[in-house]
Amino acid sequence: MIFGSTSLARVEHVPWAHEVARRLLAEPLPGRWAHTQGVVRAAQSIAHVVRDDAEVLVCAAWLHDIGYAPDLAKTGFHPLDGARYLRDVEQAGGRLCRLVAHHSCAVIEAGNRGLAGELVDEFPAVEGLVADALTYCDMTTSPEGKPVGVEARLSEILDRYGDGSVVTDSIEQARSQIERSARVVADAMAKRRR
Ligand SMILES: [Fe+2]
Repeated sequence: MIFGSTSLARVEHVPWAHEVARRLLAEPLPGRWAHTQGVVRAAQSIAHVVRDDAEVLVCAAWLHDIGYAPDLAKTGFHPLDGARYLRDVEQAGGRLCRLVAHHSCAVIEAGNRGLAGELVDEFPAVEGLVADALTYCDMTTSPEGKPVGVEARLSEILDRYGDGSVVTDSIEQARSQIERSARVVADAMAKRRR
């Protein structure tokens, strides 16, 4: 029997995602690895809010920054490099790849880098709470992996990259969407508590 490529797509599971991220980040980029572990803790703490998407959220948290790994960096735009690696090398599922490709409003920076067409053609954005939740987790975790407020996280990114950086410009443009994602997740958590 011949299987189509989609039937070979890897079923997401957290230990696999953890191991891929550890292998790619822990040694070459210990700072990113510390941040990643913090994002995963945030994802685990809110996973109940996304219900059936809990596993894909935690997997995406582990994998969202693997595009920074020196072995993967091709375009220099980490959401796209990471998503392509997951699709082409790890045969990860489509939704997981799409979440990584679009985490934290990546399409805005992609546009500023002339990569939005490629990003959206290859990885259509995931709609709904799970995408907001991933952005929330990334944007409430410091570079060292500690919990922070969204405003503090945005300020830290702006300070770190400085004026004239494509990252700075993109974060300024994405600010309202990131803040909206944080509100959506906070509302969902409040509803679950009632
Ligand atoms: Fe991140």
